[in-house]
Amino acid sequence: MTFALFPLRTVSALARVAESPGERTFTVSFPVTIVTPAEVPAAAQRPLRQLEDALERAGLELRRFGDEGRDAERVGMLAHVARSSAAVLYALRLTVRRTQEGPEEPADVAAVRAAAEFVQTVRAHNDRVPILLVGDQLTARRVPQSVLSRIDGVVNAYEDTPDFVARKIKREVSHYIGQLAPPFFAALMSYAGDAAYSWHCPGHSGGTAFLKSPVGTLFHDFFGENLLRADVCNAVEDLGQLLDHSGPIADSERLAARTFRADHLFFVTNGTSTSNKIVWNSLVGPGDIVAVDRNCHKSVLHAIILTGAVPIYLMPTRNKAGVIGPIPRREFTAAALQEKIEASPLITDKSRPIRLLTLTQSTYDGIIYRADELKASLDGVVDALHFDEAWLPHAAFHPLYDGMHGVAKDRDRTNRTVVYATQSTHKLLAGLSQASQILVQDTSAGHFDDRVFAQAYRMHTSTSPQYAIIASCDVSAEMMAGKRGPALVEETITEAMEFRRTIIRVGTECDDWWFGVWGPDTPPRTGLPERAEWELTAGAGWHGFDQVDDGFTMLDPIKVTLTTPGLTVHGEFSAPGAPSIPGVVLARYLAEHGVVVEKTGLYSLFVLFTIGITKGRWSSLVAELHRFKSAYDGNATIERLMPGFVTTFPGYAGRGLRDICEDLHATYRDADLAELTTAIYTEPVEQVVLPADAWTAMAAGRVEHVPVEKAAGRVTAVLLTPYPPGIPLLVPGERISASVVRFLRHEQILAHRWPGFTGITHGVVEEDDGSHRTIACLV
Ligand SMILES: Cc1ncc(COP(=O)(O)O)c(C=O)c1O
Repeated sequence: MTFALFPLRTVSALARVAESPGERTFTVSFPVTIVTPAEVPAAAQRPLRQLEDALERAGLELRRFGDEGRDAERVGMLAHVARSSAAVLYALRLTVRRTQEGPEEPADVAAVRAAAEFVQTVRAHNDRVPILLVGDQLTARRVPQSVLSRIDGVVNAYEDTPDFVARKIKREVSHYIGQLAPPFFAALMSYAGDAAYSWHCPGHSGGTAFLKSPVGTLFHDFFGENLLRADVCNAVEDLGQLLDHSGPIADSERLAARTFRADHLFFVTNGTSTSNKIVWNSLVGPGDIVAVDRNCHKSVLHAIILTGAVPIYLMPTRNKAGVIGPIPRREFTAAALQEKIEASPLITDKSRPIRLLTLTQSTYDGIIYRADELKASLDGVVDALHFDEAWLPHAAFHPLYDGMHGVAKDRDRTNRTVVYATQSTHKLLAGLSQASQILVQDTSAGHFDDRVFAQAYRMHTSTSPQYAIIASCDVSAEMMAGKRGPALVEETITEAMEFRRTIIRVGTECDDWWFGVWGPDTPPRTGLPERAEWELTAGAGWHGFDQVDDGFTMLDPIKVTLTTPGLTVHGEFSAPGAPSIPGVVLARYLAEHGVVVEKTGLYSLFVLFTIGITKGRWSSLVAELHRFKSAYDGNATIERLMPGFVTTFPGYAGRGLRDICEDLHATYRDADLAELTTAIYTEPVEQVVLPADAWTAMAAGRVEHVPVEKAAGRVTAVLLTPYPPGIPLLVPGERISASVVRFLRHEQILAHRWPGFTGITHGVVEEDDGSHRTIACLV
């Protein structure tokens, strides 16, 4: 169906466009869905057929849906109907009744109950789509209040002409489609749809510059005209200003704040890397004491360098399979923080307050903390509390995570400590890459200073933000509003649980080896997980952490660490000849077969379930794991399995998959890599120089490029970050230990022996002649 671009919206910019002669029309592919439950007899469907003809005459696309099927499938189908329909017409056939009185027919009771259940399920997934009951005996008396309150109308055949009813439905549809887009996205579509010439940048001028060359035309056709017409600059007043939070952008941010239950919410177009720096630069200055999760994202470490802060670190536990565990509860107490301040060689004034505490709320492997408890216990102990929720934007939308995310207006407010959360919309929700947001929960006394915050925001935000990213921040927030967010998150959790159960079930059916999922023993029952099942407890063996505080942390079930045979969480390598599959081999195999995973560990892969997950996607992964197992068991040659990989690394030609896995496993085992990779992340670190000073020395050239072999005892001027997993190991200004050097030497040996199957450490530089690797160290 073709609609004028939002003819019914009242936003002023849109109203103007709707009147302008250059208005562009916009085709949306939402059909009207006609639902006929199985029991509606064919004869009774005649008025429905007449209505369908009239709807088609009115230019509406139709789709039929028979409301049958198995329970789980049916709910999935109804969710699809709810989200992809312009309107839903439900055929409800009741018995013809001569008088107004008398008990309902049993068949009517069943039909009304089925309709009520249908409407409830559709509404759980879409609280706005027009739903109309169509029948010939429908009155407010016969349709219960619980149904009437959830629908948009009742159509009785023969009361009006089919064409009149069709026009009425078309009006409902237009209204529904017209109010779908949130303010900024609506304004942007409207602007892009208006055939006005642009004289502002970007220089491609709505895409026309690309059409002046063949490769540009290719680019234009690939991305499509809308993306390029919507790529505008901040001179366009109608769209508002991201840097000032004005106009439709501000309207959308306000709506998003309501959806995410924040006092303030700001869209950010350069990822949570930038969101983190904005929060930091708005709060922290040179010499300020900050407390930081030692396994934080590198953007937080960059913020330490940028601000000149003096860090103390909160130390997480770690298991021998390389999974980062929780920071013990005690580390967050005022006493423990003060002990760290006392012990710091970099802090002279030990009485200074802690300006900011940053915590990775959802570690890469899915551990999350009881945020409510931390907010209460740290209130007044630190000036600001920052939850880096890059991986947790979904938590506000499901009771499984109650109290486990930083900002929630309806939960206890702190008195003195302002709470921030930074979220990568693009990681788990439907945002374009780099879509991120900053959420603020102010104190009861109002300590948040938006004027200072605005300065930091402008410092880090480009004056040419990408408007498609802003629109995706807007749309992804709108997608989570009302009941839509909870439904989407519940679906994600359900799919993750199904995947976990499938992996476990296949394991019980295989008599030799199979993959595992890191997490508590998942009950085989269907349905949603219970919070208590996912909380980490000291007594449980599955996590492999030495130190766990009961009731303090949980594993987010949608973050799935798939384990391969070869290493236990306690660091025991499997014996020679036993199944052993280094994670990197499986990751390479999967990549060659179109499955790219988020992160690879020594004997694990990290698989992320986002709201974009589908049954087909995870089922294909399971099928691919089966194929890998057959190839491994049959020791199939690697060039047959991974021809692309062998073209790049021909040295492996002719070798069998199992042989490669066993040899690489032997290399890991001989080097006791599990112990070593744990040690380098958990050993005490000596801070010698302030991170900002180490950086300044490097920028001024006061560094020596020391060969890795000779680096023990020297002070690094750069961030050292091994990939995978991409978690910083040493911060500028810290002393390089003997075990770090041992790790880096192993990395080099592995790189020579196992090209293509090894990682690299960012910060270590391969010299031009390839003869050796160096680290920039302070002189
Ligand atoms: C914990 C954490 N914080 C921040 C970031 C940065 O997010 P973005 O990629 O959106 O810049 C990441 C990225 O992986 C992360 O893992």
